[in-house]
Amino acid sequence: MHKIKVEDREFEIFLENDTISKRIRLLGIQINVDYENKCPLFIGILNGSFLFMADLIKEIKIPCEIAFMRVASYEGASSSGRVKELIGLPDNIEGRDIIIVEDIVDTGLTLTHIVKTIKEKNPSSLKVASLLLKPAALKQEIEELYYVGFEISNEFVVGYGLDYNGLGRNLTDIYRATEA
Ligand code: IMP
Repeated sequence: MHKIKVEDREFEIFLENDTISKRIRLLGIQINVDYENKCPLFIGILNGSFLFMADLIKEIKIPCEIAFMRVASYEGASSSGRVKELIGLPDNIEGRDIIIVEDIVDTGLTLTHIVKTIKEKNPSSLKVASLLLKPAALKQEIEELYYVGFEISNEFVVGYGLDYNGLGRNLTDIYRATEA
């Protein structure tokens, strides 16, 4: 088993880049069909979504726009439950078809906050694409969470944009912590 160390923690290979690419290709096809004759605005949530956004957008063949915004940073390996202010909310949301692009939905608190804030700007439609989802950790249903790459169990993952204490975002594959 391919193991690595990020800071003080040991991780093992979980999702190889090839597996991730194949799944993203399918999500792209689905979005191209669902948004035919539309021009969605993809809003990536920094920092974690930057690689997912880059790969997803290359699969999008319909006209589209891209923006990024950021929320509170995630400290350590467990969600603090605190949601800070949203920074860099695009000003052209009204009347647009919005697709929020997230790296991972854990408790869902961050996403719930983002969805609420974007809805207040009266988009024509709003959906979320998240590469990963931990269904067992989800605290409330998020109706808008429509495109999910992989449902994973309640474990800490790193790589492909996801970090552990700021490190590991550059890893091409996704790894999971070998112990909690
Ligand atoms: P939530 O508000 O609990 O859903 O947390 C969402 C955010 O926490 C994500 O956008 C990530 O930045 C971070 N996060 C949650 N789980 C993990 C993980 O397993 N690895 C790395 N970051 C994570």
